[in-house]
Amino acid sequence: MKQRKPIVIANWKLNGGLDLICTSVASFIGKHFAAQIAICPPYLYMRDMMTFLQYSELQIGSQNVSRYESGAYTGETSAQMLKQAGCSLCLIGHSERRAMFAENNEGCKIKVNTALNHGLLPVLCVGENREEREANITEQVLYKQLSEGLGGLDLAGKDLCIAYEPVWAIGTGLAATPAIAQQVHQYIRAEVTRLFDQDTANRVRILYGGSVTKANASELLQQPDIDGLLVGGASLDPGHFVAICEQAS
Ligand code: G3P
Repeated sequence: MKQRKPIVIANWKLNGGLDLICTSVASFIGKHFAAQIAICPPYLYMRDMMTFLQYSELQIGSQNVSRYESGAYTGETSAQMLKQAGCSLCLIGHSERRAMFAENNEGCKIKVNTALNHGLLPVLCVGENREEREANITEQVLYKQLSEGLGGLDLAGKDLCIAYEPVWAIGTGLAATPAIAQQVHQYIRAEVTRLFDQDTANRVRILYGGSVTKANASELLQQPDIDGLLVGGASLDPGHFVAICEQAS
């Protein structure tokens, strides 16, 4: 039995549609999981998915959140709107947003704070790219992402998740080995202790993401500092995603 409640999150990215919503929700009806389970569909489909949720334990998450509360910010969706719509959590600073939409650590910190203020569970994504791993600077990269993305926030009594997603493992089929992932998760927890305190570090759930499948989920989840999984490609196959969720207990 894990000290922290396991959590498995599906990130559909810019994929899926009404068919996938129906088949995904149907796969969860009547099933009970030890873990907290959420799906992050594209914004447009959240409401469609919500209408089915009374029949399952699934939660809805957002792939992003605005750093702004309201105003002239075309194309943005605020934390308050997401919360009112029934969202439970939001991803923040996914590497694809950092690389393609110029998100930086300072912006992520504002988003984490906004999410916390509106009762959304923030899932801050961090991770090094291939060059950084090869240059042996993974810890320096993570230190910067964590200290600039979280340092100084008031986390007392608050629920926070950190997703370690090495960029070199995303969508490549080359997942980090359980040993490598555990080593990095342990470093992240130690860094949270330094930035905050032991109690916060014990509470924070650290997810692994990057080529997770039903074949590697169990071994990853057995690692002491891996509290959950963030699943991309494999979550687009409902049966496959359910099989991953079943391994998180
Ligand atoms: O956010 C999850 C994602 O980046 C991992 O994607 O396809 O490697 O599971 P994938």
